[in-house]
Amino acid sequence: MVSSAAGRPSAASPVYDRIGVGYRAVRRPDPRLAALLRDALGDARTVVNVGAGAGSYEPEDLAVTAVEPSRVMLDQHPGPVKVQAGAEQLPFADGAFDAAMAVMTVHHWSDLAAGLAELRRVAGRQVVFTWDVSHRPELWLLPEYLPEIRTLEEARFTTVDEVARLMGAHTVLPFPVPHDFTDGLQTAYWRRPERFLDPGVRAANSTFAQLPAEVVDPAMERLRADLESGAWARRHADLLDLDAVDYGYRVLIADV
Ligand SMILES: C[S@@+](CC[C@H](N)C(=O)[O-])C[C@H]1O[C@@H](n2cnc3c(N)ncnc32)[C@H](O)[C@@H]1O
Repeated sequence: MVSSAAGRPSAASPVYDRIGVGYRAVRRPDPRLAALLRDALGDARTVVNVGAGAGSYEPEDLAVTAVEPSRVMLDQHPGPVKVQAGAEQLPFADGAFDAAMAVMTVHHWSDLAAGLAELRRVAGRQVVFTWDVSHRPELWLLPEYLPEIRTLEEARFTTVDEVARLMGAHTVLPFPVPHDFTDGLQTAYWRRPERFLDPGVRAANSTFAQLPAEVVDPAMERLRADLESGAWARRHADLLDLDAVDYGYRVLIADV
């Protein structure tokens, strides 16, 4: 069942209505992150997943209501209870859910503080997974090939300290990205650089998808050449022995 926020226009999400096609094939939920998020939800029985996308990381043992503004994403969501709405104005009563989850979505919200206040209004526990724009090291892709990504990310991501402050988070957990992470977010391929050469992989990432081809294509040609010549492997020999790297992803937990 899909419903829209009663009596209100649905929140528009032009980015994901444009780039969301094919999301599920590239952004496959990773079981290690799923376990961390499931633990964070604790003993909740009812959960609202805000910015649900195609439903990644929704625990199968809980009653989940998916909230998502993009029709293209909602159409890929397999769950039975789906509501087309934005985080900034959730169409639910105060305390309607045991917990709320928001995974890699808060950087898309038009009003972060309003969205986080809505999570707190409708759910006893709030679990947010996001990325710290101020974290270093950053992925090699940015300094070496596409510094334009950094500019875009700095414009839309808020530091984890600030998200934690707005939420009133009592717990912040790091999630180092495993070398074989299955969910194709930007840093997923830190040890598999050839994956960035696949246009389908780039299309499922909202930063790449917003960059013009005249910026991305020459950068990817340089990466291709560096992979073929071995220059990339020589520069990053230190990475090839690592199993996971902390690139600044964090799970934040707050309780009312
Ligand atoms: C990177 S996807 C993450 C989807 C899903 N949570 C996951 O982990 O795969 C970001 C999602 O946030 C949604 N979104 C954009 N603006 C939003 C808003 N104002 N409120 C709630 N969700 C929003 C997008 O449509 C998109 O589906």
